[in-house]
Amino acid sequence: MTEPSAKSPQQPPAPKPAVIWHRVPETKWPSAEEARASRWFSPVQLGPVAARTRTWVPAMVPWRASDDGLVTQNVLDWYGRFADGRPGVLVVEATGIRDVPSGPLLRIGHERFLPGLRALADTVHQRSEGQTLVFLQILDFLSIRRRPEPSKFFARFLELRDAHRQFAAQHAGRALSDQEARDTLAAMPRPLLEQALSPRELRDLDFGQREEVNDEHLQHIRDLPRTLPSLFADAARRAKEAGFDGVELHYAHAYTMASFLSRTNVRTDGYGGSIAGRQRLPLEVFAAVRNAVGKDFCVGVRFLGDEAIAGGSAIEDSTQHAMAFARAGFDYVSISKGGKFDDAKQPNVGDAAYPYTGPSGHECMPTVRSDARGPFSRNVHLSRDIKTAVHAAGFSTPVVTAGGIASFEQAEAILANGDADIVAAARQSLADPDWFRKVELGRGTEVRRCKFTNYCEGLDQKHKEVTCQLWDRDFTDEDSASVPRSNDGKRRLLAPKWRAD
Ligand SMILES: Cc1cc2nc3c(=O)[nH]c(=O)nc-3n(C[C@H](O)[C@H](O)[C@H](O)COP(=O)(O)O)c2cc1C
Ligand code: SF4
Repeated sequence: MTEPSAKSPQQPPAPKPAVIWHRVPETKWPSAEEARASRWFSPVQLGPVAARTRTWVPAMVPWRASDDGLVTQNVLDWYGRFADGRPGVLVVEATGIRDVPSGPLLRIGHERFLPGLRALADTVHQRSEGQTLVFLQILDFLSIRRRPEPSKFFARFLELRDAHRQFAAQHAGRALSDQEARDTLAAMPRPLLEQALSPRELRDLDFGQREEVNDEHLQHIRDLPRTLPSLFADAARRAKEAGFDGVELHYAHAYTMASFLSRTNVRTDGYGGSIAGRQRLPLEVFAAVRNAVGKDFCVGVRFLGDEAIAGGSAIEDSTQHAMAFARAGFDYVSISKGGKFDDAKQPNVGDAAYPYTGPSGHECMPTVRSDARGPFSRNVHLSRDIKTAVHAAGFSTPVVTAGGIASFEQAEAILANGDADIVAAARQSLADPDWFRKVELGRGTEVRRCKFTNYCEGLDQKHKEVTCQLWDRDFTDEDSASVPRSNDGKRRLLAPKWRAD
């Protein structure tokens, strides 16, 4: 991989690529016979389990859990609605492995979460009439704080160092107490502050404090290689007990395990730096999980084909990661892209940074406002390279692709080219949870097609219940009187029902 070259001060900034608005392309839908004979609707083996088709709903957080991380009726209804469409696999949202408060995100860090999760797995099996496998995506994340009021930052959060004291005293022209030094720093104009604070302190001020796997000076971060294997293993064991068909280890986007895999991981304890060092904890976590659940339970992984950030991992790393994962015995690898904190937009004061707001976020959930390549099948080249590398290493671990895929034609072409073994669609499934079924029945013309403008992602960003602009204000169907609504009562939380008969 080529490192990003350092810019000389004389160099003019690189021109921004022109923004191009793309249209969602027209498509031809198959007849029922064509769908039946297609690759996409053919079965695939995922280690110990077989998916009925290669259709897949990847993980999407809908913000419907209770504030203490429990499954609610809204969670059951939400996943039941996806199960109506009978995808081959439905991956339930990123679910926290620790027993710590994390807002309305699902959690699995204790046995008390089991009854709700059992009901969730049962709901998917029942509503899909046994045709959908349900996996749980399990994750760990590090602490992140909201962007502080500058006054609060200087008064409370900044750890005052001698360098700060000296800088402030020099600026004031006299010796200062710590309180005075803080006040002086708080009143400094920005160019001086940029000299007074370290880059990390400036980031804490501008974006909010965020822990990193490189923070080896913090005991709990130093200890991650000791704590995470058993946390993941216990979570996976609980998922198995709850009746899920598998777990997906979340090694993607902005979270702990992705950070271990990343080129930005420079830990010095043998768990960073070299590619083997960066893979070490992800492989140790997998070994602990496998040991806990045995070979008769599907264990897959989602990770990044490309972090899409300066200095981050790209395909040269991810092909190596994929080969290591295949060798270790993962039952599938699912490829995503980007979604990092590193290039996220600056949040407003009082909000936390969100990893899908910068250029890498766009790579994760590409929209029709794009560059010349456009959003459709945008990330398939990553799964192609990864699949090629995995096969060249002598493994046949199935590879899942996602990103801007919203038609049978796209999916079938990807499979025909051998660019992936399974084709996932997140936002298209949100726009129309019945769409796989409609296509399979030869009724593709009835599919409600995603616009790829990310209204749903905007809700996710605000931690509001995720819905789709194509149906959330439509109250014309017979269920609209009883359908659950958002807190403000304006949006329905479930797509209108579709009846095949
Ligand atoms: C609202 C929303 C929530 C998401 N939550 C997750 C998540 O919990 N875990 C994950 O791996 N990806 C998550 N994603 C990313 C999707 O799984 C998928 O990779 C991305 O949307 C690109 O696929 P698409 O073009 O088919 O939508 C989320 C996407 C959306 C729109
Ligand atoms: S809100 Fe927009 S981008 Fe999201 S699923 Fe609906 S149509 Fe697609």
